[in-house]
Amino acid sequence: MEHKRSSFSGKIGFVLAAAGSAVGLGNIWRFPYLAAKYGGGIFLLVYILLATTFGFSLMLAEIALGRKTRLSAIGAFQSLHKRFSFLGYIASAVPMIILPYYSVIGGWVMKYLAGFVTGQGAAMANDAYFGSYISKTAEPIVWFLLFMGITAIIVLFGVEKGIEKVSKIMMPVLIALILGISIYTICTMDGAIDGVVYYLRPDFSKFSIMTVVAAMGQLFYSMSLAMGIMITFGSYMKRDIRVEKSARQIELFDTGVAFLAGLMIIPAVFAFSGGDEAALSQGPGLMFVTLPKVFESMPGGAFIGTAFFVMVLFAALTSAISLMETIVSIFRDKLGIGRRPACLLVFGICVALGLLSCLGYSAWSTVQIIGMQFLDLFDFLSNSVIMPLVAFATCLFVGYFLKPKTLIAEMEQSGPFKRKTLFTVMIKYIAPIFTLLILLSSILDVFGIIHI
Ligand code: PHE
Repeated sequence: MEHKRSSFSGKIGFVLAAAGSAVGLGNIWRFPYLAAKYGGGIFLLVYILLATTFGFSLMLAEIALGRKTRLSAIGAFQSLHKRFSFLGYIASAVPMIILPYYSVIGGWVMKYLAGFVTGQGAAMANDAYFGSYISKTAEPIVWFLLFMGITAIIVLFGVEKGIEKVSKIMMPVLIALILGISIYTICTMDGAIDGVVYYLRPDFSKFSIMTVVAAMGQLFYSMSLAMGIMITFGSYMKRDIRVEKSARQIELFDTGVAFLAGLMIIPAVFAFSGGDEAALSQGPGLMFVTLPKVFESMPGGAFIGTAFFVMVLFAALTSAISLMETIVSIFRDKLGIGRRPACLLVFGICVALGLLSCLGYSAWSTVQIIGMQFLDLFDFLSNSVIMPLVAFATCLFVGYFLKPKTLIAEMEQSGPFKRKTLFTVMIKYIAPIFTLLILLSSILDVFGIIHI
């Protein structure tokens, strides 16, 4: 089924839409817990280095691929080189793996929002609250279905424009709140300064290959790379808009929000744990365990907590919508079905996969696949296996089949391209070696062959 390819109205339209997809739970929930777990300052440093070189080049390549072909991932690779059409399919599988567990976490956000609205802030500030909540069988499923349902309804009725408008107002407020909460924690709580030091000062003794693996996985996730999304965005981009500048702005925005979220959460963890480093490796629950305590200790915390979770919910929804929209349009193209059946189908698959993630914490908590429960497994498969694989193949494709100069020419149509040498060297030599190493080490690690 052919649908018309619309264009973004202008420069700002493109950057904001891409940033709306990029900024989400990845920045506010996932980045801080990874930074806390993988060494603080050293993780931050590795992340920023990777984002400005590798992530930047890959983002340029994807946007340019989309703009050149005016097609989304599957069609784009297919039209440029028959042998690479498999790449489009693999990339398209990623949103399908991410959306279900993303919605489970979206459900957690809704639950916490409801908690603040109904005055349960004090109960949620209890250490054991989060753990006992996710180990319930029914309730997390209900919230997950609600988040998934809202996303599906918005995509079904095509009203995402309205949501995006609201989120354009919410986003600056969210950033201001994150900043305010960080300043409050750092200024008023004992021990928070140690957390700031942990977060900002790289400690090279904490460096391991795992720091790089985790930072790279996070980079793909947060910037919505290696899953066809930026290709689709690029296909909607007009030729007079500068790819380089837009990519830089999206990246700055995305990394900036992640950086601030870390600054909000990590010092608070230090303050509440009395500097106990074990508290840093809590993983996915970190934000949900720490923030309610901060709000509880603040004057007007119930109100600020409510405002905070409303805005996180909006950020999560805009990302979930862009994930679902991508999957729906692939299903429509490939199966030749209409919007409604495609939405229903995607909803059904996501509910099934998301239920696994919910139950993995409760009724099926004893089920482990390669040592992980379901949510971690999905996260690992997409971020540490498929995305590096897609990034590796994309670099080979652009570097040796299509040739970087083809994409450079595409980018130069809209003005000078300053970092072409970085782009070429990254795509041809450094990024392929890097992604391959990451892929191998994360797989070997899971199977216990090496320990990193
Ligand atoms: N980048 C989003 C985030 O950081 C997640 C996402 C991934 C959204 C892929 C769309 C596509 O939360």
